[in-house]
Amino acid sequence: MNNKPIGIFDSGIGGLNVVKELKKILPKENIVYFGDTARLPYGSKSPDVILGCAYESISFLRSKKVKAVVSACGTVSSLIQEAKKGFDFLFVDVLDSTCEKAINSTVNKKIGIMATVATIKSNSYKKKIKLLNDEVEVYQIGCPLLVPIIESGISNFPKYIINNIIYKYLKYLLDFNIDTLVLGCTHYPAIINNILEITKSEIKIINSSKETVVEVFEILKKNDLLSQSTNFGKYDFFASKNQKNFCLKAKKFIFES
Ligand code: DGL
Repeated sequence: MNNKPIGIFDSGIGGLNVVKELKKILPKENIVYFGDTARLPYGSKSPDVILGCAYESISFLRSKKVKAVVSACGTVSSLIQEAKKGFDFLFVDVLDSTCEKAINSTVNKKIGIMATVATIKSNSYKKKIKLLNDEVEVYQIGCPLLVPIIESGISNFPKYIINNIIYKYLKYLLDFNIDTLVLGCTHYPAIINNILEITKSEIKIINSSKETVVEVFEILKKNDLLSQSTNFGKYDFFASKNQKNFCLKAKKFIFES
């Protein structure tokens, strides 16, 4: 069981940020990744449609005999909170550890969330943070342009255009004097440098991709499922569209950048 792979899914390349972090902390783990490239972006779709896509991704990964399934997608994680209580397999999503980290980080008790429209509409981060500490104020904004831009490659756009778009979203949160910003979508590490240019390191940034891996480690350890292999893990990438191209892109991102 321990040497079975971990199954990870997202709508596209965002979840690869989780894989990259995982490779640093758990290099011996085998990974099966599924990107639902035929149906991205999820963030502009309805909850029913998003959950339908998520269940198909989960079934695909389970058919690969994975020891745990990781939703490396803030949008799916936001909508699957109720359903996951009935899962009879190990399931990790991006919400829990990200919210805990944000609460531990804020000093002035004002947290901002940037995420997809579906995530923000679900109020998932806000609800979870309030549940952990109801003295914390949570301000949130849906950022519908960011995933399409990141998926098409940020290098295809002049930097000032990307920065202007990010600024438009961030300004709303900064006006509330937040001291902690949650990147609630796993695609956003691709623009973390643009965000840092705008916030000038004055705000703590919580990267949901990084935090998710902390939870994957803890859950595998608790269940005595950490890989016992002495070799580096094997990585298999699958996509619902442009599989070949996606694999090349993923391998380049994970192993060469
Ligand atoms: N990476 C997904 C998330 O974390 C992106 C969703 C989308 O495809 O819009 O929310």
